[in-house]
Amino acid sequence: MSKYKEHIKKNFYCFILGPLFMILEASGEFILPFINANIINDGAANGDIPYILRYGAYMAIIAAGMLLTGILGAFYGVRGSARTAAGLRRDVFRKIQTFSFSDIDRFSTGSLITRVTNDITQIQTFIQNLLRGFFRSPVMLIGAFIMSFKLSPDIAWVIFIIVPFLGAATFFIIKTASPRYTVMQERIDSLNTGVGESVTNIKVIKSFVREEHEKNKFRAINGALMEKTVSALKMMILMQPVSALAVNVTTLMVVWVAGRKIMVGSMEIGTLTAFITYLSQILTALNFLANIFLQGTRAAASDKRISEVLETVPEIKDGGDSSRRIESGSVEFRNVFFRYFKDRETPVLDNISLSIDPGGLVGIVGPTGSGKSTLISLISRLYDADSGEVLVDGANVKDIPMRELRENIAVVLQKNTLFSGTIAENLRWGDENASAEDMEKACRIACADGFISSFPDGYDTEIGQGGGNLSGGQKQRLCIARALLKHPKIMIMDDSTSAVDTATDASIRKALREQLDGVTKIIIAQRIASVIDADMIIVMNGGKITGCGTHSELMKSCADYRDIYYSQCEDDGEEDAV
Ligand SMILES: Nc1ncnc2c1ncn2[C@@H]1O[C@H](COP(=O)(O)OP(=O)(O)OP(=O)(O)O)[C@@H](O)[C@H]1O
Ligand SMILES: [Mg+2]
Repeated sequence: MSKYKEHIKKNFYCFILGPLFMILEASGEFILPFINANIINDGAANGDIPYILRYGAYMAIIAAGMLLTGILGAFYGVRGSARTAAGLRRDVFRKIQTFSFSDIDRFSTGSLITRVTNDITQIQTFIQNLLRGFFRSPVMLIGAFIMSFKLSPDIAWVIFIIVPFLGAATFFIIKTASPRYTVMQERIDSLNTGVGESVTNIKVIKSFVREEHEKNKFRAINGALMEKTVSALKMMILMQPVSALAVNVTTLMVVWVAGRKIMVGSMEIGTLTAFITYLSQILTALNFLANIFLQGTRAAASDKRISEVLETVPEIKDGGDSSRRIESGSVEFRNVFFRYFKDRETPVLDNISLSIDPGGLVGIVGPTGSGKSTLISLISRLYDADSGEVLVDGANVKDIPMRELRENIAVVLQKNTLFSGTIAENLRWGDENASAEDMEKACRIACADGFISSFPDGYDTEIGQGGGNLSGGQKQRLCIARALLKHPKIMIMDDSTSAVDTATDASIRKALREQLDGVTKIIIAQRIASVIDADMIIVMNGGKITGCGTHSELMKSCADYRDIYYSQCEDDGEEDAV
């Protein structure tokens, strides 16, 4: 409940005014049939036109008041629920921003999206219905009860037969439908995840001609959702025939009892008409309450899913001495072990110890899956080591304020992303206040200035979602420039020039070396040529460091390095032969 407190407090007036106006509107509902009965019994029966007109005018005024209070009630209901939902959405979103990579891995992106959108919408609908009907319905129920007793206690007893019957039926329906709703919600989750994945990766799907497979996959999840929806809703729609039966049986009983009274002259027709209206109001109110309870069970499932996000304690905590600054940019690993899944036997990083001096250029090579990306992700605390220490500037990264750490370490991730907007807007992610000269300088180092200036709009060129209208190599160079604009002390590039031709790759490295003098540069590369002139090359295999030194040292001492080197020479040889 605590998660709603702040938002309810902020919008408290909606939570008071909404139900209040709805109660006022409901009061009109049970006064109207009463006046109507008077008009029929006293006005129409005696042909008293002034009486009919006077009471008719009262009815019109009450109806206008009901319209107004109904509109106001609905307005505050919608406002209160929408604002609460927006606040909650903000909280969940902010919480997700604090998540570490492992927290995100645990929830999965698709599920987090569903929680921010669909689950919060369920809560919003529930609050809206609550504000509209939760107070109004009991008032209508009690009001209609009192009025019908006031009209004719002789037949009002009939209601007591029908209410328990309807109550029991509602209870049964809710009890059966609510678990089905939980399952339905999970199916919506799978649908969202499935559709998200297919739409985001539509290009890959097309290039692998996997449309049929995707269609079948979609059919399966869509079918499962439909099946569960039908299963939940068929219980829900049972409510309608059950209440119709209740209304009809009760009406029949009332007409039967009242008809005999009318025939002997002990009851008037107007009273019967009003009585039937009250009866339908009672049943409508009961129906509405049942619906709120049903919606409530659905919202409760969503509430639980939202709480899971909000109550997550991010695995990586920002600690340390806030005054600590990174001055040089040295990096050290001391006996570091790391696993993504803590219950697995083999570590992804297995007793890593290494030391990188500030200002140098260090290359990391090794077969795919050997742990290179994992290794560098520990430096800026995208993940924390299970044991051992990662030190930057001589201090454990856990003792450096997160902001200081991440501002001073620029990482060009292997799977990097650009955002929709202009090239300049994307570059300014690195430095909000970067001038045109700063951007041009960074782009020159990253060899991106050439292609940017060839665009008619230059730095103001709009790039589509995810940099959709740029080539792979262009995207990579922009990502490098964006990272350079951070003016980092440590610059890490994870396979960031894989889509760039060899000559440009060499130019980027040359510029990095010449112009980023005091910056520690760590470059992960598949091609040995990309790191051959590095001050130090680290060779990884199976999560271990199997070699460390310059190219010539490693050629002598490291078998893994020689293997990679010779395999690439052969490839080059084959390419040359072609
Ligand atoms: N987010 C993750 N969750 C679970 N396991 C992961 C995750 N990322 C990587 N792994 C696993 O950790 C191991 C090392 O992966 P890593 O990405 O560090 O390799 P790499 O050397 O960078 O490979 P590549 O050259 O292909 O980029 C692999 O076995 C991989 O399956
Ligand atoms: Mg990698």
